[in-house]
Amino acid sequence: MPENTLTITDNRTGQTYTVPIEDGAIRAMALRQIKTDAEDFGLMTYDPAFMNTASCRSSITYIDGDKGILRYRGYPIEVLAERCTFLEVAFLLLFGELPTQAELKNWTHEITYHTMLHESTKKFMEGFRYDAHPMAMFVSTVAALSGIYPESKQVHDANNRLLQIKRLIGKVPSISAMAYRHNMGFPYVYPDNDLSYAENFMNMLWKMVEPKYVANPVLARALDILFILHADHEQNCGTNAMRSVASSHADPYLSTAAAAAALAGPLHGGANEEVLKMLDEIGTKDNVPAYIKKVKEGHTKLMGFGHRVYKNYDPRAKIIKWTAEQVFEVTGRNPKLDVALELERIALEDEYFVKRKLYPNVDFYSGIMYQAMGFKPAMFTVLFAIPRTVGWLSQWQELINDPEQKIARPRQIYTGYGKREFVPMEKRTAPAPVAAR
Ligand code: SDX
Repeated sequence: MPENTLTITDNRTGQTYTVPIEDGAIRAMALRQIKTDAEDFGLMTYDPAFMNTASCRSSITYIDGDKGILRYRGYPIEVLAERCTFLEVAFLLLFGELPTQAELKNWTHEITYHTMLHESTKKFMEGFRYDAHPMAMFVSTVAALSGIYPESKQVHDANNRLLQIKRLIGKVPSISAMAYRHNMGFPYVYPDNDLSYAENFMNMLWKMVEPKYVANPVLARALDILFILHADHEQNCGTNAMRSVASSHADPYLSTAAAAAALAGPLHGGANEEVLKMLDEIGTKDNVPAYIKKVKEGHTKLMGFGHRVYKNYDPRAKIIKWTAEQVFEVTGRNPKLDVALELERIALEDEYFVKRKLYPNVDFYSGIMYQAMGFKPAMFTVLFAIPRTVGWLSQWQELINDPEQKIARPRQIYTGYGKREFVPMEKRTAPAPVAAR
């Protein structure tokens, strides 16, 4: 029997089938030949939430969940966070190689000169209630850019794609800052092209009446590192949304908006905001044991803990913990850190969490740091969406260039009625209680 094959015996018919094993996987379509008779549709796989289904081939990000490994284009996240700027890592994710000095200079210039927003965006932003959630404003405004750049629908034109990619990377900080300023009732601040990507974001967020904003370099570097850590994470929920929507050849603005909408969920990128709510609810270290008990009884989740892939400590959480200490040197220590450290200490010793391999993930410490920097919790997921836009666009490029990819359209296992006779209005009775159906 040839190596790298799987032999399957269908006990319904006694037939055997041999399917190739490629890269540790079998093609789901290889199962369709397994039928009981000529009328049979053939076997499918059933995998709710894609627990064990590869949707694509990708060379962008590698994760080993058991070993707590994360690499972008083969480079360990720890090295990139220490040695690179965010725009340098953005270049790596998008083009596959670290940029030369000249490439990085040009790339930084290109992104810097795409940070301005069309003035009509202001009117769009003014349509939101003053207290609208920044993620609602982010998702909507990113989608609205589709109307400003209609040529972005030419998704098969490589030069057009690159122009939209530069626009999106340049503009997501501007949109995010605009949403924050709208919440605060402050006038919008225009980009300052003299500043770095992180410094300019801080400028658009926090400049008041001073003639020129000067960013604290420690805080700017901390933000840059956090952007690097959040840039991509292979086929997570938001990226799956990006790929699914983009597979219909929707333009990159609408696809990115869909990805950001997925990220906003509390189980995904919205978790960092939920962690702060959880820490506020716990209040002090003394209350931690009671909260842990609530979690173990299934009444709530320990937000910022657990991961579909990492069954070890999320490598990003370690770096964030270190970065937070650098920030606290400048801002003063966030007292919530003590509660978080106690939560982590108890959870990592408790059989409930150990058995389920629940460790702190990227969201556990990031919010504590962001709050110390002056961000409101509602902005935390926006701080995730800004850098993850680079990851979504990198995955979009890969999807468009992958000859195997088609419009995403999963199958289903139908559990509804068989064919029924129509019931005319006069013969309909009050609906049976749902349980009785
Ligand atoms: C991100 O996918 C990515 O890469 C995402 C991300 C990225 O960079 O894109 O890394 C970013 O989304 C990080 C995750 C942020 N979310 C949270 O912190 C929310 C809290 N975490 C959980 O909701 C959960 O851990 C998930 C959603 C992250 C993962 O869920 P899974 O893989 O579907 O696991 P599960 O829900 O099936 O849990 C397995 C068991 C269950 O217990 P039992 O039913 O077996 O008894 O572990 C329990 C769960 O109840 N469990 C938790 C828990 N997470 C899982 N129990 C308490 N607290 C938790 N946080």
